[in-house]
Amino acid sequence: MNLIFLGPPGAGKGTQAKILEERFGYRQISTGDILRTNVREGTPLGVEAKGFMERGALVPDDLIIRMMEPVLDQPGDVILDGFPRTVAQAHALDDLLARKKKSSVAILFDVDPEALTERLTGRWTHAPSGRTYHVRFNPPKTDLVDDVTGEPLTQRPDDKVETIRTRLAVYQTETAPLIGYYDDPADARMVRVDALAPIDVVTRQLVASVTGNGFSHSGKPA
Ligand code: AP5
Ligand code: MG
Repeated sequence: MNLIFLGPPGAGKGTQAKILEERFGYRQISTGDILRTNVREGTPLGVEAKGFMERGALVPDDLIIRMMEPVLDQPGDVILDGFPRTVAQAHALDDLLARKKKSSVAILFDVDPEALTERLTGRWTHAPSGRTYHVRFNPPKTDLVDDVTGEPLTQRPDDKVETIRTRLAVYQTETAPLIGYYDDPADARMVRVDALAPIDVVTRQLVASVTGNGFSHSGKPA
């Protein structure tokens, strides 16, 4: 079963994807991380995407869908972190999954928008791995240093207050309509978690909701 993590910037999608990846052998596919790597390396995709990302806008659908096709071709269960983000991307994903006879469930990270700015302005990231920390809610063992590699942490350029405001508005207009797309009681394609809870509580809810719905996971138990 493939998991689609749906929720606004700062909801905790990346944080939980990394935890499930470690515990259950899922593979996290973060479109944001893939794009940031392309920007850092100056690839043609990175050059095209950079301006959109810096202003907090979405990268155009055709670029994202073209980027995702080969990634989704690989075997194994994945966590889609940040994709789809528009109705057009959701249709493209459904087509791809149907062709490969793969199934998916969307997990909505339900969170009070008031909490998001503090989460994003206090976030520090280990850019090469995408691991994230928070000065208050999830500090690293040593200030500004990654727990695993000892390398320095950085802040994302789009985590400035003005850009965060744009990203939250873009989420409302472009991505929130996906809730209606997936939340169809007839085929139980979406479950909700209370993403305002502490990180370990959100993980417990996620594991319970995924296994409670009869969805199997690959890899070792928690
Ligand atoms: P992306 O990298 O996906 O950013 P985002 O969606 O804005 O989401 P974030 O990564 O900011 O939030 P998150 O939910 O992962 O939160 P996190 O776990 O880090 O996308 C960036 C850009 O790329 C987009 O703006 C767009 O331009 C482009 N892009 C990407 N995908 C695209 C697509 N499909 N189509 C078009 N464009 C695309 O947590 C945040 C902080 O909170 C951390 O510090 C963490 O430690 C803390 N935290 C997490 N959970 C909790 C908790 N439960 N309690 C307290 N603190 C918590
Ligand atoms: Mg993220």
